[in-house]
Amino acid sequence: MSWQESTKEKMLNLQLPTDPRWVGIAEMQIEDILVDHAYCEQKAASSCISLIIRYNDLDELVDTLTPIVAEEWGHFERVMEQLRKRGLRFGKQRKDEYVAKLYDFVRKGGSRKDQLTEGLLMNALIEARSCERFKLLSKNIEDEELRKFYYELMISEAGHYVTFIDLARKYQDSEKVNKRWKEWLEFEAEVMKNMELRGDRMH
Ligand SMILES: [Fe+2]
Ligand SMILES: [Fe+2]
Repeated sequence: MSWQESTKEKMLNLQLPTDPRWVGIAEMQIEDILVDHAYCEQKAASSCISLIIRYNDLDELVDTLTPIVAEEWGHFERVMEQLRKRGLRFGKQRKDEYVAKLYDFVRKGGSRKDQLTEGLLMNALIEARSCERFKLLSKNIEDEELRKFYYELMISEAGHYVTFIDLARKYQDSEKVNKRWKEWLEFEAEVMKNMELRGDRMH
């Protein structure tokens, strides 16, 4: 199975598809979406840096995440380019309710390995949802350049998603990871279900 196929299969793990109305309202608020998106990329880079610092002794993790930091920062740069060329302003960061809710679900305590599993799965989930949203944008918005842009980013984030899951399985018993992943997916679906539908944010 090619990675694209296996990613597609794993993507279906998301338990609740995005409300189809989202993309229409997001398109009308594209400045807010791009600003929010820029911060999502910044947070993705920061989160990988934190994992690298916290798990400096795990060679494979450090070597795998280091180039991802550069990629995420490259995404940030590309989002900024899209903002600038449209004469849009890079506004302030908004409160990230989605990530805050996921963060509450992180199991506190346990071993260092358990903590790593939580961190990797949370990152995987954010990648998966971002990927789903990028796909919607790439298929449905009118701006052709942005459609192409979101298509490229969707492929990249899908790769990150697979990487986080693979790393989780490398450092933790697979069955434990699978069981916890299922819980994360169910929780995320609940979060999604209860979040207000807004067109000014990526999640
Ligand atoms: Fe990214
Ligand atoms: Fe990513």
